[in-house]
Amino acid sequence: MSQATGVFSPSRAKIQQRTLRTDKWWLAPLLTNLGLATFVVYATVRAFWGSAYWVPQYHYLTPFYSPCVSTACLPGSSHFGHWVGELPWFIPMAFISLPFLLAFRLTCYYYRKAYYRSVWQSPTACAVAEPHAKYSGETKLPLIMQNIHRYFFYAAALISIVNTYDAVVAFHSEKTGGFGFGLGNVILVTNVVLLWVYTISCHSCRHVTGGRLKHFSKHPVRYWIWTQVSKLNTRHMLFAWITLSTLILTDFYIMLVASGTISDLRFVG
Ligand code: FES
Repeated sequence: MSQATGVFSPSRAKIQQRTLRTDKWWLAPLLTNLGLATFVVYATVRAFWGSAYWVPQYHYLTPFYSPCVSTACLPGSSHFGHWVGELPWFIPMAFISLPFLLAFRLTCYYYRKAYYRSVWQSPTACAVAEPHAKYSGETKLPLIMQNIHRYFFYAAALISIVNTYDAVVAFHSEKTGGFGFGLGNVILVTNVVLLWVYTISCHSCRHVTGGRLKHFSKHPVRYWIWTQVSKLNTRHMLFAWITLSTLILTDFYIMLVASGTISDLRFVG
């Protein structure tokens, strides 16, 4: 570090090293980068793939294609009707939900911490001097926009309702003509439950449910909800990573079944 800023300022104790830490402080940012990159690459490839997203026999729809509102969607996969015609290759089938979900996770308080550290190196680790000479935090454009996270939380809650509907109608079998139950249902339901847990454990959810109140004693219901949300919120980081994994797993399983690579393990129908 040649700039005389931060810990290298003239008035600070004269230590030449960027940090005196002897542990592997770079390991966590490295793992974060690998994890995020894996998800982004997988999700992008699959979102634009355009096939193997719907299993007509069992009504399995991958969350990466929900809701499917184009007339080009496979027959039966449009649970909420057709709103648009055929889409050019560069518009994914789930163009309604994906931008909001991306914005929801990008503006998430946990992910901000993760990528501010691992990508932006601000800071790379605690007590490791920054590579930046200037720092304006979230006071200017574009980062001031992180303050609209709560609106993406509302959008994500609506999309979770859509995903829940998808998971419910997936209890179907062509053979029985009605109810069916297979491994795909277990995967879809687990994923949707965990998506709800992640969404409800959001910091904005904690604020809107009760965090902004001053007198909990006057709001017993909201106090109870705030207490439960706060308990979930202590594990928000964990749920962020678990749901990235279950989303990949769910999509991958449905892709394998839809493409005929494997067949679904059926319990009923
Ligand atoms: S803070 Fe992470 S989803 Fe809202």
